[in-house]
Amino acid sequence: MLLKLKRTPGLYLVGFMGSGKSAIGRLLAHELGWPFADVDEDIEKTHGVSIAEIFDQRGEPEFRRIEREAIRKRVREVETGRPLVLALGGGAFTDPENRKLLEERGVTVWLDCSFPRICARLEGQTHRPLARDPAKFQQLYHDRRDGYGKAEYRIEADTDDAAAVVAEILKLPIF
Ligand code: S3P
Repeated sequence: MLLKLKRTPGLYLVGFMGSGKSAIGRLLAHELGWPFADVDEDIEKTHGVSIAEIFDQRGEPEFRRIEREAIRKRVREVETGRPLVLALGGGAFTDPENRKLLEERGVTVWLDCSFPRICARLEGQTHRPLARDPAKFQQLYHDRRDGYGKAEYRIEADTDDAAAVVAEILKLPIF
């Protein structure tokens, strides 16, 4: 196993909303026999409200602060040597502070999924505040690609076959 992953066994899945981070992360964790966590779920559990409510009532900057705190908490567990597959929210990795933390404490993997597939997946879902305006949503998809490109590995995830994506991740030269 890669020395860095041995020391801090965190596998961090990044990518746009709807790119499959949670579904793929769960399956990957199962294959590895590692625990799985999802930062959005952590936030909703800790605060007892939905992500949309946090955005609507407290604003995006406050959501980002809460998100950073939730990521730090998970990374601290990884620092104790506890392995973890962690699915991040779509905006988390665009924050340089989060990026630095994750890069130093494990391996970052970008799940790259096409825009049409993402739209098909999210159709009818209403719980993502940043997906409400279609034009802004598309712009965000393009604006964020450079940031996601800073992940250590990019995995082609333009498929609904989560097992196939997991198989590609397991081929990475990190295990
Ligand atoms: C966001 C993505 C969401 C959630 C929040 C903001 C983003 O997570 O964190 O709505 O900025 O892209 P998913 O990527 O899991 O949908």
